[in-house]
Amino acid sequence: MEKMLVHGRRPLQGSVKISGSKNSALPILAAALLTRDTCTIQRVPDLSDIHYMLTILSSLGCEVERASGTVRIRAENIRTETPYDIVRKMRASVCIMGPLLGREGEATVSLPGGCVIGDRPIDLHLKGFESLGAAIRVQEGNVKALAPGLKGTTIRLRGKQGSTVLGTDNIMMAATLAEGVTLIEGAAEEPEVVDLANFLIKMGARIEGAGTSRIIIEGVRELQGAEHEVIPDRIEAGTFLVAAAISGQGVTIRQTVPDHLQSVTSALREAGFRIDIAGDAITINNNGKRRPISINTKPHPGFPTDMQAQMCALLSTTEGLSKITDNIFPQRFMHLAELKRMGADIELEGATAAIRGVSHLGGAPVMASDLRASAALVLAGLQADGITEINRVYHIDRGYESIDEKLNALGAHIERVKSSHIKNAKSR
Ligand code: EPZ
Repeated sequence: MEKMLVHGRRPLQGSVKISGSKNSALPILAAALLTRDTCTIQRVPDLSDIHYMLTILSSLGCEVERASGTVRIRAENIRTETPYDIVRKMRASVCIMGPLLGREGEATVSLPGGCVIGDRPIDLHLKGFESLGAAIRVQEGNVKALAPGLKGTTIRLRGKQGSTVLGTDNIMMAATLAEGVTLIEGAAEEPEVVDLANFLIKMGARIEGAGTSRIIIEGVRELQGAEHEVIPDRIEAGTFLVAAAISGQGVTIRQTVPDHLQSVTSALREAGFRIDIAGDAITINNNGKRRPISINTKPHPGFPTDMQAQMCALLSTTEGLSKITDNIFPQRFMHLAELKRMGADIELEGATAAIRGVSHLGGAPVMASDLRASAALVLAGLQADGITEINRVYHIDRGYESIDEKLNALGAHIERVKSSHIKNAKSR
């Protein structure tokens, strides 16, 4: 097991390049199941979640080739059932159902396990598939969908927490090969949904309205192979902006789409930072006194839940009372206990974290729990006195490509050590 040792209080400076988006690459790789032709996807980040998805696609019979950031997939003859243990480990694998259902008329995947950020139901996905004419059966922890032929229809896809990103992806992919026209109302508007739609259109799909709450898909007989470059990862970009806000002296993030980060850059401006945008680059500087703020997470274009933990780390040392409410995943606060071990003053009231800024945090051994909470602990360690030891760093590697190397290149001092070597590293 690996740990990270974050040596605090080293100022960050310079520029960093953002990788391709994990949450865009995952459904796009699954979409290659919709055709027998070869698909070439560029700017695929090197992450364990991506590795999982490629393993799943190989287990379905796809030919998969990876050369650095480019992945080639050919789904000529495929199976429609996946090994239980692989799918269970990663919720995003649910997005193979739509393509399998659309192309083969059946799909069997294990019900995604819950995870530390909360219950992860797929009821909206299954309701959407049923609306398209699929019969759904749940048995022995697997969900099986059967549909000799999908028929286009109108599907209302909002749940009590609003739209569903992977649910929108799944229904959109299935509908590309359904007979007739499908209207998805209450669709997710995330940039990753738009990126998937753009890839599907290159494959010959007929889709309008991606990026709005109403997406119209006119089914076609078959889809062809295509090439596509994945959009930049807006959450990685936001994470680096917050790292720079916490301990930066002028940091620029490059190869981004600033418009995808609008809610995050607005929040940072409100929190007292200067943000300059030039083309695909965003520069953040201190701008005098930091200010406490209140944030409510919402579906895009609102403030993303995937940036909630990172903002908790920043606001932990911002004088005054800040509040962050996670309306998407009300239980997504595993990081608070760890931040409090470092000296943060945070009270959780329902789905709202009330954060009273303290003058500084102290390094401590902390436990990573989910992908974004782990990133928040790295950010907290950057500003803490002493060393912060982060256990279970595999959570971070699921969604960040070499976050320690990228931060060290900006001036941080982060060591990645095997647990057994921990004592030597401390003596350095
Ligand atoms: C995607 O997950 C992202 N993952 C998540 O990022 C992100 O937090 C989430 O969207 C919200 O933006 C990927 O894209 C791979 P949802 P997804 O369906 O699609 C409820 C990260 O850190 N819901 O949009 O699984 C659900 O419980 C990850 O990169 C239902 O009730 O999330 C939640 O409260 C974490 N029924 C809300 O909707 C359903 O059938 C939004 O979930 C589906 C969802």
